[in-house]
Amino acid sequence: MTSYYDFARQILLGESLEDKLIDAPFEWSSWSEFALPSTPGRIGKISFSQNKIKFPRKENLNHDDKKAVALHSFANHELLAIEMMAAALLVYPHHDEDSIRFKRGILTALKDEQKHLLLYIDRLNELGYEFGDFPLNDFFWKQMPKLKTPAQYVAIMSLTFEAANLDFAQYYSQIFRGFGDEKTATILETVLEDEISHVQFGAHWLKKWREDKSLWQYYLDCLPFPLTPARGKGLGFDTSLHMKAVGDQEFIHKLSEYEDNFLVTKRKS
Ligand SMILES: [Fe+2]
Ligand SMILES: [Fe+2]
Repeated sequence: MTSYYDFARQILLGESLEDKLIDAPFEWSSWSEFALPSTPGRIGKISFSQNKIKFPRKENLNHDDKKAVALHSFANHELLAIEMMAAALLVYPHHDEDSIRFKRGILTALKDEQKHLLLYIDRLNELGYEFGDFPLNDFFWKQMPKLKTPAQYVAIMSLTFEAANLDFAQYYSQIFRGFGDEKTATILETVLEDEISHVQFGAHWLKKWREDKSLWQYYLDCLPFPLTPARGKGLGFDTSLHMKAVGDQEFIHKLSEYEDNFLVTKRKS
């Protein structure tokens, strides 16, 4: 049995897709210092690219080539989540029961992200494409150096990126179902179910750490510049879905209000 350190290190610094997808038992050996690399290990087709590709318009998602671009973009986010979760296992110290419990939660999510990545890759392959056929960006990863504490990590990963994914997963599963693509719709539903539990995980820990602050205020304090709560919502913002995941009425209210402010500002400019 290896240690948590070797496991997470192979995922983060290993260069192949096989490294990113490893599943091996390990033990929570005592924490060792780890310096965050400037970039995760990546080689060949899965390397980051500076090229950009436009996300397809929803009305074109019945065409396989456009569908592939969408699935590829979802898969990109899963791989970045896997690497950031591995990084979180490495960089944050664990010296007591609570911090190990926190990391066990990250590990559960990491394994779900591996499952999601595989589901998307299998579907891409069925359509005649491979992961890496389109450019892969590092937007999520670029936030990692700013996440100095576990609270900042869950504020960004769980309550922002994964929270937005609740809406996106629901929105696109409905689009694909509308086009009669049950297979893709079902994958997105599976992802949605798991993401609810990932957001719940983050909310649980933020509530534990917030002391006398409201969850919303603590969340705002944890968000690194220039990210705003607007990033925590996707297309078709669904308050009941976010409420199920976060379980804090005030938080959900402020989040929905935030969109209004954001839209007003945008309209003015
Ligand atoms: Fe995921
Ligand atoms: Fe997730």
